[in-house]
Amino acid sequence: MSETTETPQTIRERKGREPIAALTAYDFPMAKLLDAAGVPLVLVGDSLGMVVLGYPDTTHVTLEEMEHHVRAVARAKPRGLVVADLPYRTYETPEQALTSAQRLVTAGAEGVKAEGGRAILPQVEAIGSAGIPFLGHLGMLPQSVLEEGCYKIKGRDEVQREAMLADAQALGQAGAFAVVLELVDAPVAKEITAAIGIPTIGIGSGAACDGQILVTTDLLGTSPDFIPKHIRPEELLRDRMIGMLRSWHDSLRSPIE
Ligand code: KIV
Repeated sequence: MSETTETPQTIRERKGREPIAALTAYDFPMAKLLDAAGVPLVLVGDSLGMVVLGYPDTTHVTLEEMEHHVRAVARAKPRGLVVADLPYRTYETPEQALTSAQRLVTAGAEGVKAEGGRAILPQVEAIGSAGIPFLGHLGMLPQSVLEEGCYKIKGRDEVQREAMLADAQALGQAGAFAVVLELVDAPVAKEITAAIGIPTIGIGSGAACDGQILVTTDLLGTSPDFIPKHIRPEELLRDRMIGMLRSWHDSLRSPIE
């Protein structure tokens, strides 16, 4: 990453030129690490719920919790663009979406993300008309897990493929600066990437997207119980961390004279 601070425009201009790297951060130290690694897009995702707060899914995360963690990330002043998730049921109407987005911006977010396509277009437009940059999220939508019952690949049938393509086009036209494609069938993710003018940022959606986003603890192998199939961490850092904790503990039993 250059020394300049990232903006929605610099992210958007990477389409077709340079892969976009995006990772999650929920606190000050991780935001500092992502900055040191030159990551251009820092997402305060509502994966916060499972990764940090011990909830079973993202539907438990509140706006107040998101504000708290956005503030911590923003204090690190990363050069990457800080985008925050609008949590479950905080963007049911355009008015509510705008109020929620403004609260996240006041906390330090430089953009917001919400799940859905044409179904939330009035919300996307309300957010955009207030000058708040918007990042879309299509494919498997974690906030719909209670209705769907599980997390599964999207786009394998023709109805889903067509709907996702239309949703991605609509989000681009409504002013989104990029769109996350989560667990989208890889050929469909490739087709969407070629069809729209804004970057696609994939997670478990194949290599053809304009960028990739991961939950940082999955990449580092520090997630407590589960690492998704689409990630092969170089090393399970949690094993090394447990080793260091054990050796410190052991050192107390046999102190060096
Ligand atoms: O909440 C999150 O971390 C996300 C990414 C996985 C895209 O939405």
